[in-house]
Amino acid sequence: FGTMKVDNNGILEIGGCSVLDLKREFGTPLYVIDENLVRNTCRVFKNNFSLDGLNTEVIYASKAFLNIAMCKLINEEGLSIDVVSGGELYTALKANFPPARMYMHGNNKTVQELTLAVESGVGRIIVDNNHEIDLLEDICRSLNKTMTVLLRINPGIEAHTHEYIQTTKHDSKFGESIYSDEILNIVNRLSNSNYLDFKGFHCHIGSQIFEEESFFLGASAMIEFAAKIKDECNFTVEELNLGGGFGVYYSNEDKPMNLEKFLKELAILVKSKSKDLGLESPKFMIEPGRSIISNAGTTLYEVGSTKSTYGGKNYIFIDGGMTDNPRPALYSAKYEGAIANKMNKENEVNYTIAGKCCESGDMIIKDIKLPKTESGDIVAVFSTGAYNYSMASNYNRLPKPPVLFVKDGKARIVVKRETYEDIIRNDVF
Ligand code: LLP
Repeated sequence: FGTMKVDNNGILEIGGCSVLDLKREFGTPLYVIDENLVRNTCRVFKNNFSLDGLNTEVIYASKAFLNIAMCKLINEEGLSIDVVSGGELYTALKANFPPARMYMHGNNKTVQELTLAVESGVGRIIVDNNHEIDLLEDICRSLNKTMTVLLRINPGIEAHTHEYIQTTKHDSKFGESIYSDEILNIVNRLSNSNYLDFKGFHCHIGSQIFEEESFFLGASAMIEFAAKIKDECNFTVEELNLGGGFGVYYSNEDKPMNLEKFLKELAILVKSKSKDLGLESPKFMIEPGRSIISNAGTTLYEVGSTKSTYGGKNYIFIDGGMTDNPRPALYSAKYEGAIANKMNKENEVNYTIAGKCCESGDMIIKDIKLPKTESGDIVAVFSTGAYNYSMASNYNRLPKPPVLFVKDGKARIVVKRETYEDIIRNDVF
């Protein structure tokens, strides 16, 4: 992916930096982000989800990977940002991300989170339910402010992906179903609110989805619903946010779509469909997270022990594991990897790459053919940019790895390695 290369000695390079140098200078485990690839992907989204006469916006779903440096990059590339908690909002504010381009999500935002969002002037809050609308109106009343909102709806499109990351079945915890008895009441309530400036709807049909058709169906359902609202509530929808979920390559089981072609087709579809249904072309937003950052991330580990079991299994033990990448344990996610200092050697041994946590499920890759591996070798696991660093934990009190941005032969730490001091920082003596 991106700027990855192998040098004449069989050493992997990312962003022009040799992994041997990175290991020497920064240690392992190490999250390495190919900055040019992230920037190019942002541009692919911006340049292709656009069409003459169509107002569009690309919003980065920051839950995939967020820190101050990433906020700055996203701002420089002209994307907006989606935050789902006080912590994500706080990070973006501290990075001086323009609040007007922030979108605040969540199915159970607290009063503190909503207050912080209103006080800091975030562009949109995506409201989830009646109770939250009550809270938000109260906050706006007491601060004497109005807040622009979208309503999260559930268009009932079922996308093919892992059960935990499917969001739009009828019983989803997110948003209000377009088929519910309550939906028109909520719409009327929002459009008549003194404190809320209601602009339209949001949906997100799931994550790691490969079927273009699911997105087209979701977009069509949103536009049809906007047309229905125009007829039944006499309310003109100005904005439709179609969410994210665009699937990426992790292993040869994954067949990502051609992003450029897909985005262009999506833009054409939403423009023509809204015209056909007599809508004055609303603004359309999309919210990619994983597809912006996933392929740009590589995790580097050092091999400690290797072990061949009585049962015939060959293990490679790495100095990280489910703490820095919980996705295999959580979703049975598959990854590809390599011995990054032996890229020119033949893959001849069947290995399982296991982490150092005290449980058997801590495996990062099962059954992968690699060159004969020994202690001190470097394991690279690919496409770890999304939902690895952001979902990392301190299980077994392991400090979290640092995050490194590499670009044109230069590396810069953007998140420092945690220390044992960090581990006990909030413990009370
Ligand atoms: N917008 C909303 C409202 C979302 O809930 C999400 C993801 C996104 C956008 C971005 O979706 P993406 O483009 O990244 O697929 N931890 C799981 C993924 C959970 C996704 C949750 N929502 C994983 O590691 O696969």
